[in-house]
Amino acid sequence: MNHDAASEKHEHEDTLTNRQGHPVTDNQNVRTVGNRGPTTLENYDFLEKISHFDRERIPERVVHARGAGAHGYFETYGKVGDEPVAKYTRAKLFQEAGKQTPVFVRFSTVVHSTASSETERDPRGFAVKFYTEDGNWDLVGNNLKIFFIRDPMKFPDMVHSFKPDPVTNLDNPERMFDFLSLSPEATHMVTFLFSPWGIPANYRQMQGSGVNTYKWVNQEGEAVLVKYHWEPLKHGIRNLTQQEASEIQAKTTSHATQDLYEAIERSDYPEWELCVQIMSDDEHPELDFDPLDPTKLWPQEQFPFRKVGKMVLNKNPENYFHEVEQVAFGTGVLVDGLDFSDDKLLQGRTFSYSDTQRHRVGTNYLQLPINAPKKRVATNQRGGQMEYHVDKAPGQNPHVDYEPSSLGGLEEAQQSGKLNEPHYDAKLVRQKIDRANDFKQAGDTYRAFEDWERDELISNLAGALSVCQTQIQDRMISHFTEADPEYGNRVREALEQKLAMNKGDAHTSSRAADEMTDQAKGMGQ
Ligand code: HEM
Repeated sequence: MNHDAASEKHEHEDTLTNRQGHPVTDNQNVRTVGNRGPTTLENYDFLEKISHFDRERIPERVVHARGAGAHGYFETYGKVGDEPVAKYTRAKLFQEAGKQTPVFVRFSTVVHSTASSETERDPRGFAVKFYTEDGNWDLVGNNLKIFFIRDPMKFPDMVHSFKPDPVTNLDNPERMFDFLSLSPEATHMVTFLFSPWGIPANYRQMQGSGVNTYKWVNQEGEAVLVKYHWEPLKHGIRNLTQQEASEIQAKTTSHATQDLYEAIERSDYPEWELCVQIMSDDEHPELDFDPLDPTKLWPQEQFPFRKVGKMVLNKNPENYFHEVEQVAFGTGVLVDGLDFSDDKLLQGRTFSYSDTQRHRVGTNYLQLPINAPKKRVATNQRGGQMEYHVDKAPGQNPHVDYEPSSLGGLEEAQQSGKLNEPHYDAKLVRQKIDRANDFKQAGDTYRAFEDWERDELISNLAGALSVCQTQIQDRMISHFTEADPEYGNRVREALEQKLAMNKGDAHTSSRAADEMTDQAKGMGQ
């Protein structure tokens, strides 16, 4: 029998192998001295199997750990509202009506771990990776259109206060409201979050928003400020009351993942329309807010939503870990014709994403298929853990991994349009923006809610605040009162009722039971 015939006999298409390609002949028993042990250390197959298993998890995302994803495409209308899109941006993916760009989208909750419930009261992440002909563009947004804070310096503290107590590992709204009551700019976001808008019914029936202000740049290098919005096209927007969410959570922690997956499997593909709001690129002193402030909405009457294209999600991931877990989005990932604004939060974010991904996924995370652009990549970056291939051009001299070179290395690209080059003349400072206006829009949003949404907001706030110390309750009520006196009054009344009820039930709260120990206060639910 020749060698090929022998291996044919012992190995066929479905034969289990290890990663060295060796056929595995016994996958049930470790190698032992006698069948009662002890085990031996030179048992390579076992060591390979168990040590890979020991490393099967990568660090979860520090925020937005729980997610679901899908593939699809974005199709441009070639226009922005009624105007040609080229007037505002030269980004190629938007230009020619009907042109499709592949996308991968990941939806997520923010605060808790990969195994947490999808019914949490939490913003929802809405991150889109566009694999454009010019390389990747990531639009890393949320469902809500604004954010808690406007300065990235505050982000780690904010997230700490939202996450479980570092001692008890229990959720504790007191920590969250302690931070929020000392961050008045969060009042607007709190108003959304504690209303039904804080628990979208699922991922298909929610909006998305870039939240931060970006820029579009045209061929002449002229820029405008833009905000991006995704509007669900098929089944509208749906949010849950706390009661509805609790009923779902009693049965499953994964309803939104299941809903998305099953809809795509039955070919009911979710769709969103991409709209932008546009403002000229200046400070807009006529507005009572700063256009670069992510705690603010741009009023739609002045800055209407203009349709740009639509996105369809039509394919589930083939492997959750490969695609949904390892995908890496970042606000720095822009293509020609799209730019940053001076929005401070956006600039802070832009450092944070790729920094965490080099730690979470690894130095060469951009070589993974889900993250790599679907176009030619040629860099002089070499080495690092898990380098998978060399990013070199076919004609590149493999000895030349530097630029400039006269020995056959890579060359710089030509600039395709005029650069946008804003001029700065200011002192370098650490200062808050001038038009903070922390409460007005929170009041506008409160008044714009439907009655049932306001009722939910008040009851949810009263429930969460009832476990906080009096000083925190008072600071929050004063913020709500600044937003709208009725809002403040209703929260105060509902809180008093809740505390009286808790007292009746002999439940603990710091206002109702001032004698409670500090330690017990930290265990609020
Ligand atoms: C995820 C930082 C604000 C949306 C993340 C991650 C970090 C981060 C470190 C984990 C990324 C990863 O492991 O791949 C920050 C910082 C912020 C900020 C420093 C403010 C200074 C925001 C805002 C939004 C947002 C305002 C919404 C517009 C998201 C989304 C994800 C995410 C959607 C999940 C992306 C995914 O699905 O992989 N953020 N973030 N973040 N962030 Fe932020």
